[in-house]
Amino acid sequence: MKAIIPTGGRGTRMQPLTFSANKHFIPVANKPLIFYPIETVVSAGIKEVGITYNPGYLDQVQSILGNGEKWGAKFTYIIQEKPAGLANIVEVAEEFVNGDYFLLHLGDNIFADGIQELVAYFNNEKPEGLVPMVHHKENTRLGVPYFDDNGRLVKYVEKPQNPPHDFAIPGLYFFSPLIFQSFKGEDRIKPSERGELEISAPYQWLLDHNYRVDVLEYKGKWLDPGKFNDWIEANQYLLDKKLEEKMEGEIDEGSRLENRVGIGQGSRIINSEIRGPVAIGKNVRIENSFIGPFTSISDNCEIEGSRVENSVLMNGVKILNVKHPIDRSLVGADSEIKNGEEHTRTMSLFVGEKCQIQI
Ligand code: G1P
Repeated sequence: MKAIIPTGGRGTRMQPLTFSANKHFIPVANKPLIFYPIETVVSAGIKEVGITYNPGYLDQVQSILGNGEKWGAKFTYIIQEKPAGLANIVEVAEEFVNGDYFLLHLGDNIFADGIQELVAYFNNEKPEGLVPMVHHKENTRLGVPYFDDNGRLVKYVEKPQNPPHDFAIPGLYFFSPLIFQSFKGEDRIKPSERGELEISAPYQWLLDHNYRVDVLEYKGKWLDPGKFNDWIEANQYLLDKKLEEKMEGEIDEGSRLENRVGIGQGSRIINSEIRGPVAIGKNVRIENSFIGPFTSISDNCEIEGSRVENSVLMNGVKILNVKHPIDRSLVGADSEIKNGEEHTRTMSLFVGEKCQIQI
């Protein structure tokens, strides 16, 4: 069995960060988001992974992910000429799949409890398609399965307005190689109104041609850090459940650590309190500050005279002598937040497009 993991797409819901960074490489709990899907498929026993990318991104994607060796896997890079929908990712991977059974795991979804059960089911039963489903209260913004009275899947609808239940289809799709027929010939699947080949279309094609499509509930924790709030939630959940304690930096006598804290090489904690779970990368300086639970601080950040909690700071962020506590924030790489002149009550902002500031 093989796996496909995409790195493309427009990342519109994570703007402004995605103006400069590929969403898949923004950190969650101090790890690039896409590392989670890679770990998930590899630990389910799948070692041949096709990584799709959009033009212009190969160098960046390859320099971060390499050839897969780091995970004991073999990566094949596959170009997707345009972000033309999730089913188009399957379509462009035909040569890589080469007649095998396979899955597509979106690069921005996290199945925190692994997918071994689903993979084992698919390998044993070998239906033409398998759709995992999860309970989700906001399923109007997701794919939704529809069933007949016997509980058989009859329809797969993207983002319906009035779904009949709270089931949703997360970003994990299983197919037999038969699916490539749905891209060919007279009755091939067509782009939706927004001009994309939706992932629901090849499943609907299977159903319409009376092929077997099974549905299996995923009972583990599914995280979908597609937008700001969900990113903060995913960061919280992963720090809470998965963060390993690590102490590779230095802490002076005036500092105090509580609960689980991971501190990377070359980082210094000076006269500060860190209340875990908190992940701190390499070469970070924290001085005269309080860092509260569920905070991820990437490499090369500096925090001085400030309080930060429940937040994600990307590489090289500086937070200097900020009087107000910073909470539930996601700060892009190399940003600086600092105290202004003592005698003025004004704020001075240098803010890019689509930023959100709450005061
Ligand atoms: C995509 C899929 C949707 C799925 C979701 C999971 O939506 O089209 O069916 O439920 O991923 O993350 P998108 O994130 O592109 O809106």
